[in-house]
Amino acid sequence: MLYGAAATKTHLSNDAAFAAAFAAQCGILVPEVELKWDALRPTPDTYNFGPVDWLQHFAGAHQMKFRGHPLVWYQSLPKWFDTYVTQQNARDLMLTHVSTVVGRYARKVHSWDVVNEALDPNEKRPDGLRSKPWVNLIGPDYIDMAFHAAAQADPNAILVWNENHLETRESWAQAKRDAMLKNLQERLKRNVPIHAIGLQSHLPGTSPTFSYPEFTSFLRSVSDLGVKIIVSEMDVIDSDLPADPVARDQTVANVYYDYLSTVLREKSVVAILTWGISDRYTWIGGYKPRQDNAQARPLPLDTSYQPAPPWNAMVRAFEESSRT
Ligand code: G3I
Repeated sequence: MLYGAAATKTHLSNDAAFAAAFAAQCGILVPEVELKWDALRPTPDTYNFGPVDWLQHFAGAHQMKFRGHPLVWYQSLPKWFDTYVTQQNARDLMLTHVSTVVGRYARKVHSWDVVNEALDPNEKRPDGLRSKPWVNLIGPDYIDMAFHAAAQADPNAILVWNENHLETRESWAQAKRDAMLKNLQERLKRNVPIHAIGLQSHLPGTSPTFSYPEFTSFLRSVSDLGVKIIVSEMDVIDSDLPADPVARDQTVANVYYDYLSTVLREKSVVAILTWGISDRYTWIGGYKPRQDNAQARPLPLDTSYQPAPPWNAMVRAFEESSRT
């Protein structure tokens, strides 16, 4: 079983103690921001590969695998995108991007998030897709085109459809799971090379058990299609949990243990990644701040890069799943 995490070049290159802790814990690394279009595409004709190259070398130098995230996403698009991209040039722009980026790292990448957060059932489209911007610009087959282009550029990489909110109990999350399965069935039938799904797994700290039939049967249905599963961005959002750090850590640890014990029952789960590894560097503090401004504690290592209760809970779940 592969375990790893997201990180930025800024943190790994400027904080040696963090880099050492990251390398000691992880078997795979994914860039948190450097492969997104706003960071990678300063202009329609240029690529800023430097930070990605650095991260790929760092992974290689520390015997870690490397995965890419994301090739086609509706967010983090560059300032020039809305004025430059039209229905006439969008298809070529997207395909050139996918071929160029995947081609550059061919045979050096474990897996690619080819599309990210492409579903939005709230839009009520029959296919459950998010329309802006890629469906509006290219059509619903932009997904097929992106996967075929990625497979051509690197036939070895695991190609992933990465999604959020597939884990939770809300009615719209069930609509998302249904849309995910429907898209997989229809696209696999026409030989679109979708090898795996990414369960982002940004887990609410207040979650009851994840071992509930709608979710476990979804995981089984995905596996029955011969599709692998990657837990791609796991963390536990502790913004609404009580302030006491000891109690909060224990609740966060319990959510990790419950979630991992549930998903690891599926043999098609091939990798587990957390979105960051230390509470010192997490998106949650900025995006989901606590009312009391207390330090967020969503990850396995504390702000001094020491294992915290979530780390122990993850180890217990891995050992009990005998997937170590
Ligand atoms: O690097 C620039 C810096 O030069 C500038 O001064 C600063 C102020 O605008 O912005 C910096 O870029 C920020 C970047 O993080 C690096 O810190 C972007 O504004 C900010 O939007 C970006 O946030 C990232 C976000 O995705 C959007 O790309 C988060 O760090 C990252 O954790 C988050 O990750 C997403 C996954 O990709 C998809 N799933 C959800 C997950 C969490 O939102």
